[in-house]
Amino acid sequence: MPTIKEILNTMEYGPAPESQKEAQAWLEQHGRTFGLFIDNAWSEPGELFASTNPADASKLADLTQATGGDIDRAVEAARRAQPGWQALGGHGRAKVMYSLARLLQKHSRLFAVLETLDNGKTIRETRDIDLPLAARHFYYHAGWAQLQAEEFADYRAVGVVGQIVPWNFPLLMLSWKIAPAMAAGNSIVFKPAEFTSLTAMLFGELCVQAGVPAGVVNIVTGDGRVGEAIVKHPGIDKLAFTGSTEVGRLIRIATAGSGKKLSLELGGKSPFIVFEDADLDAAVEGLVDSIWFNQGQVCCAGSRLLVQESVEEKFLAKLRARMNTLTLGSPLDKSIDIGALVDPVQQQRITALVESARAEGCTVYQPACEIPANGSWFPPTLITGASTSAAVAQAEIFGPVLVAMSFRTPPEAVQLANNTVYGLAACVWTENISLALDVAPQIKSGVVWINTANQFDAACGFGGYRESGFGREGGREGMYEYLTALSEDARPAAPLVEAKAKAKAAPASAGAFAIDRTAKLYIGGKQARPDGAYSRAIHGADGSFIAEVGEGNRKDIRNAVEAAHKAGGWAKATSHNRAQVLYYLAENLAARGEEFAARIAAMTGSKNAEKEVQAAIERLFYYAAWADKYDGLAHQPPMHGITVALNEPVGVIGIVCPSEAPLLGFISLVAPAIALGNRVVVVPSEAHPLSATDLYQVFDTSDLPGGVVNIVTGSADELARTLATHSDIDAIWRHDGSAEGCAEVERLSAGSLKRTWVGGAKGRDWYSTAQAGGRAVLAHASQVKNVWIPYGV
Ligand code: NAI
Repeated sequence: MPTIKEILNTMEYGPAPESQKEAQAWLEQHGRTFGLFIDNAWSEPGELFASTNPADASKLADLTQATGGDIDRAVEAARRAQPGWQALGGHGRAKVMYSLARLLQKHSRLFAVLETLDNGKTIRETRDIDLPLAARHFYYHAGWAQLQAEEFADYRAVGVVGQIVPWNFPLLMLSWKIAPAMAAGNSIVFKPAEFTSLTAMLFGELCVQAGVPAGVVNIVTGDGRVGEAIVKHPGIDKLAFTGSTEVGRLIRIATAGSGKKLSLELGGKSPFIVFEDADLDAAVEGLVDSIWFNQGQVCCAGSRLLVQESVEEKFLAKLRARMNTLTLGSPLDKSIDIGALVDPVQQQRITALVESARAEGCTVYQPACEIPANGSWFPPTLITGASTSAAVAQAEIFGPVLVAMSFRTPPEAVQLANNTVYGLAACVWTENISLALDVAPQIKSGVVWINTANQFDAACGFGGYRESGFGREGGREGMYEYLTALSEDARPAAPLVEAKAKAKAAPASAGAFAIDRTAKLYIGGKQARPDGAYSRAIHGADGSFIAEVGEGNRKDIRNAVEAAHKAGGWAKATSHNRAQVLYYLAENLAARGEEFAARIAAMTGSKNAEKEVQAAIERLFYYAAWADKYDGLAHQPPMHGITVALNEPVGVIGIVCPSEAPLLGFISLVAPAIALGNRVVVVPSEAHPLSATDLYQVFDTSDLPGGVVNIVTGSADELARTLATHSDIDAIWRHDGSAEGCAEVERLSAGSLKRTWVGGAKGRDWYSTAQAGGRAVLAHASQVKNVWIPYGV
């Protein structure tokens, strides 16, 4: 007798097509031709391009390719509207956003069908995932608008924001971008992807109905050239981009030195780890939601299966059996699992990558399924036998293609999981909670799903580590992306630069006990001679020679970075332990306070050198206090479980210190970084480096592990350049008041998409906790990882 499972497997579902009547009628209403949505009005259509249905290649509508003049108009409208929108206040904005959320729900079926027609993704996904999440995003952020004055009292809206999104979740990405920006009081110039602009057009109509004031939301359509015009527009204060890493890099370079705030949500190659004790059937379903959701066109798709060797065969057999039941066909059919790819160009790209794997001798498994004659399609695919360096194992395929590998031990799983330039998401499947929670923090990614996959919620931040970008969307951390701290407005226009006295020659002898002393570099907890064997003379405020310091070069930076990586244990030290070290540093600095004050006075001519030493000691106390209090959050998204938002260290940070306040500036940047578990490679003030080199003995006597703080003296420009191009540095901070130097650091950081924090040409009052302390600084020293932990299921 056949089992129930066998009977179910032989059952055929009849077609259950969703009606497209309303969506087609809406397109007809617009004459299937759209202008741009600027200032709450539709412009006359301009140069047109077609938007097609990828499931049958039929044309849906013509859209306008926006011109530079159109972008000018959109930015002007946004600029005019922004002050009024902010002045409307939290409750005023909350009401409008609440109305948008309600309207999205009310018209959810029309949106879902339109999205399916335009994108090719299945109606099941647009109806049950994209639309509810989009509405939830507006509800949640209406709440932040309401609470803004209370919860973000020390912040203001950034101003006019430019937002550019891809085609894989057109309306959902729109809501991820527009909702927090609106809540914070910004006005918006938004560009959907050229393949999928229709739901954004419909959203424009909702804005009018919801009472969004004219100019607050402007929607411009077109290809990458329109995106570029937005990126380069001087009237834009902040850019938020989701899309390919390649374009993210271009945007980083284009905005370098512009002072524009930037968040990038880029590609991924996310690991899906299955341990031998996992619920294998549940893990198979997790994979279906991971890599075959939206045809694999998902930035956080679990595209790399890492399965423990002991269950590999069994798991892959289950997986192939499940693949055989996946249905591919008309996305409007409610019983279909796999819809169409967005465009033939994606089909060609995926095909090329899969063929490259076949040519390399990999095994390619695809279930027999009928591919429709028209449109762009790709069957669910499983690749085994690929090497870790194969193109299919490293490149973001962005299609329904899973690459499977095996591992033996948990450390090997972590090592394979991190063997990628990306860091967006990861899944961990095991019934052993201790193992799951041990592995999650070791994976370098912004999201970890434990025994679940592809979960999203407005309350939980989403975003990447490494080349998957920076910045978060959703949650409290997502709001900061659209806010500027009021203390930034209070910064002095330029750093205080002392008049330089003419250098005098070194005295032949400066007393009976004078011994020539050249301050060395400090690498891995030891003083090190500079590789180049050069040094530079440091002169005091009166021009007299004080000492020589080592002239660090590229090789010294390399050694320092290596030492910083070796000191990785610092990130695992308890926060109590890190606080103790900071207190100890303060204690030992205080013991030599007079000597440090004398040194500052000699270098800078400061009449207030004791005050600077006092402030530096206090700042060490300040960050020691924060070390064990910068806790994460426990979110309660709509699921049975919790999502834990952890504030993790960024890794190795390169720091170029300010030229003013040589001791306080140094401490104000190094202390927050190490308080949170980062290791640093620091370039002290170029003019006054001796306050930093005098600290070596303080470090040696304060239990600071070697390699946590590394110091390389020399040319700020040259060393900053080396730091910015070093691929093993995770972030770079530059605060020496050099506008060109900061711009260069931002430009060069694009190579490995390092996070940056630069001061530009402006100064900073290093004595003010508002300007040189607080959560804003700690946020630069950390990155949020959201770990989803469902339970009882
Ligand atoms: P893309 O990154 O080129 O496009 C995303 C958005 O950026 C679109 O709105 C596009 O018009 C705009 N854009 C393109 N060039 C621009 C420029 N120079 N300046 C400003 N904006 C620009 O992605 P595309 O071409 O659609 O897809 C190519 C590949 O990128 C995919 O196969 C996939 O691997 C990856 N991708 C990754 C996404 C993710 O979320 N991680 C999303 C979309 C694509």
